[in-house]
Amino acid sequence: VSSFQQLYYRLYELIHEEYKKHLQKNSIAVEYLQKRSFTAEEILKYEFGFSPLNSKIPQKVAENLGIKILKKFGFSTKDLFEGRLIIPIKDENGRIIAFGGRLLGEGQPKYLNSFETDFFKKSKTLFLLDRAKDQIKIADFAIICEGYFDALAFHRADITNAVATLGTAFTKFHAFKLKKITSNVVLSFDTDAAGLKAALQSIKILVLMGFNVMVANKSAEKDPDEIYRTNGKEGLYNFIKEAIPAEKFIPIALSKKYNFENPNAIQLFLKEIKNWENLFKNFPKRLEIFQSVVKEISGSSLSTTKIVKKSNFSLD
Ligand code: CTP
Ligand code: MN
Ligand code: MN
Ligand code: MN
Ligand code: MN
Repeated sequence: VSSFQQLYYRLYELIHEEYKKHLQKNSIAVEYLQKRSFTAEEILKYEFGFSPLNSKIPQKVAENLGIKILKKFGFSTKDLFEGRLIIPIKDENGRIIAFGGRLLGEGQPKYLNSFETDFFKKSKTLFLLDRAKDQIKIADFAIICEGYFDALAFHRADITNAVATLGTAFTKFHAFKLKKITSNVVLSFDTDAAGLKAALQSIKILVLMGFNVMVANKSAEKDPDEIYRTNGKEGLYNFIKEAIPAEKFIPIALSKKYNFENPNAIQLFLKEIKNWENLFKNFPKRLEIFQSVVKEISGSSLSTTKIVKKSNFSLD
C-alpha cells in the first residue's frame, strides 16, 4: 500500500467522521432513517452520515477522492453529496473507499456515488463485503442484492451474508472476489423488470464461473428492504428459503414475457430458451431440470393454444 493510498483512506475516514457528526445535528436526515425503520443503534452501527450545505472540503482533496466539488459561486463551494444522506462504501478490509449519497426525499438522481478513482472501481466493489465475508464462509453462500438498503435489510435481520452491487451490473470481477470464499449464491434482486434483467445477466456470469446459483424472486414487495419493513426478519427468511435454482428460474421467468394464446408464442419462447440451454451443457443434472421445466411450460401452453384454436373453430 503506497503512502498516497494510505492518505486516501485516511482522508475518507476523516470526512466520514465529519459527515457522521453532521448527521447527529440534522434532524431531517435522522428522521429519514427513522422512517426507514432504523433505530438509533442501527444508525450508529451502519455509520450513516450527512453532507451539510457549505461543506468545507478543500477542492484539491475532493478531486483526488472522487468527490470533486461541482459548483463554485464566489467563495462558496458545493460538494457532490450536499444535502444527501451518506452511506460509507468500504473495501473488503473495511477501509472506506467511496461514499454513496441518497436524497432525503424524492427527486433525481436518487443516488450519487463517488467518482471512480485508482482505489474505487464500481465493477469490483461489493457493498458490505467487509461485514459479510466471515458469514459467507460459514454459511457457504452469499446473498447478492441490487441496492444498499437491500443488503442492509438482510444484515438488520441478522442474515449477515448479504452484499450489494453499486447500481452497476454484477461483473466477473465481483464473481472472482466471491469465488475465493464460496461457490454458492442466492440472487436477491428487485422483483421488477430491471431486477429480472439483472438476474438473468448475472446468472450467465456466475454459472460460467462454476457457481451454484439460486434466485429469490417470490414476493409481493418490490425489494428486500421493503420485505423487511413489511414482514420483518421472517419475511426475509422466507424470501430466501423460497429461492429456486437458476435452471428452473430461467424458463419460468422468460415464459412470462410471452402470451401463449398467440400461436407463434411457443416457437418464439423455445427459440429464446435455446440460447440458454448451452449454459448448462456441462452440468447434466441441471440441464435435465432446465429441459423438463421448458417441456412443462411448452406442453401446458400447447394445450391452451389448442383450446384457443378450438374456440376459434366453433366461432366459424
Ligand atoms: N442506483 C444508483 N443511482 C441511481 C439509482 C440507483 O447508483 N440513480 C443504485 C443504488 O446503489 C441503488 C441500486 O442502484 O441502491 C438499486 O436501485 P433502486 O432499486 O432504484 O434503488 P433502491 O436501492 O431500492 O433505493 P431506495 O430503497 O433508497 O429507494
Ligand atoms: Mn469511521
Ligand atoms: Mn430497482
Ligand atoms: Mn430497489
Ligand atoms: Mn428500495
